[in-house]
Amino acid sequence: MSTAFKNIQQQLKQKPKVWLATGVAGFIGSNLLETLLKLNQRVIGLDNFSTGHQHNLDEVQTLVSPQQWFGFTFIQGDIRDPDTCRKACEGVDYILHQAALGSVPRSIEDPITTNQNNIDGFLNMLVAARDAGAARFVYAASSSTYGDHPGLPKVEDTIGNPLSPYAVTKYVNELYADVFARCYDLESIGLRYFNVFGARQDPDGAYAAVIPKWIAAMLREEDVYINGTGETSRDFCYIKNAVQANLLAATTERVEAVNQVYNVAVNARTTLCELFELLRAGLVTKYSKLQDLKPVYRDFRAGDVLHSQADISKAQRLLEYEPTYAIAQGLAEALGWYEDVLR
Ligand SMILES: NC(=O)c1ccc[n+]([C@@H]2O[C@H](COP(=O)([O-])OP(=O)(O)OC[C@H]3O[C@@H](n4cnc5c(N)ncnc54)[C@H](O)[C@@H]3O)[C@@H](O)[C@H]2O)c1
Repeated sequence: MSTAFKNIQQQLKQKPKVWLATGVAGFIGSNLLETLLKLNQRVIGLDNFSTGHQHNLDEVQTLVSPQQWFGFTFIQGDIRDPDTCRKACEGVDYILHQAALGSVPRSIEDPITTNQNNIDGFLNMLVAARDAGAARFVYAASSSTYGDHPGLPKVEDTIGNPLSPYAVTKYVNELYADVFARCYDLESIGLRYFNVFGARQDPDGAYAAVIPKWIAAMLREEDVYINGTGETSRDFCYIKNAVQANLLAATTERVEAVNQVYNVAVNARTTLCELFELLRAGLVTKYSKLQDLKPVYRDFRAGDVLHSQADISKAQRLLEYEPTYAIAQGLAEALGWYEDVLR
């Protein structure tokens, strides 16, 4: 474990803080909730259940003590409503803003709803955080902001043109956060997540992410589709690395680390063909039918970036972020979780 992360966990245990996690019933939000409650923090959670689930919250409840669960207050509400945001931010030290509509294809099909959630909702949260005097506003940015820039690995200050409405919204978040720092001294940090995966990531629905979708398909003996040739590559980042980045970002006291955006990934690259093999190999010993499984190839998806890999040196240097899970270790943990819930 990174020393900085170990230290911060000790400090938080000694002096608990009040956190607001938006999108708390979703994948990343519920993992943040689990970690924070296990550190005896007070957590306010906000979610409208548009893509998140009550069962994610129920699962977290089973993973913490009754006393830790007592530290959690849930608000069912929508960040598109400024009053809800204001109420949620009251008395909060740190905000981890995860609520948004994810998915590139969803945004291509319905850019207006994506814009309302991801830009209007984000602005409401910034205003509420400013007015409540929150110490830090950490928010979910995205690797999609690199758009059509061909450079690899991706370095924070070199971006291209967005390739989807979703990417526009995530870039606008960064612009707004920057302007709120300049105009109102609101301290923020944007975390550009690169394909985060792990327990509680939704395997179902039209817009499911590739890892949970493929694991579910393999376990259910359904076809596994590869969009394109399979040479598309991603820097898959296990959820525990992303949780670490959030806690470090919220609590860093280094002035130069604040009002910045950071890549959150591993600095590795896995092609879709390699991912298929990793998942098949991880499951085949128990599910022998996967021995002969071959992927079904179909068209490359509009709006997707071809290759993605992060330079993580900025987060390493300024936040003392150290990803402790490579893809293989993360997949081993994640596969166990999906087997438990899907079989
Ligand atoms: N998972 C990834 O690989 C990835 C990569 C880049 C960025 N992100 C960003 O990280 C954040 C979390 O993503 P996730 O993977 O956990 O997705 P998720 O869909 O599991 O979680 C998002 C949560 O936000 C909630 N939400 C959405 N709109 C809301 C609204 N208007 N009001 C209140 N709650 C609302 C949803 O119900 C859901 O629980 C998002 O901002 C996403 O864009 C994720």
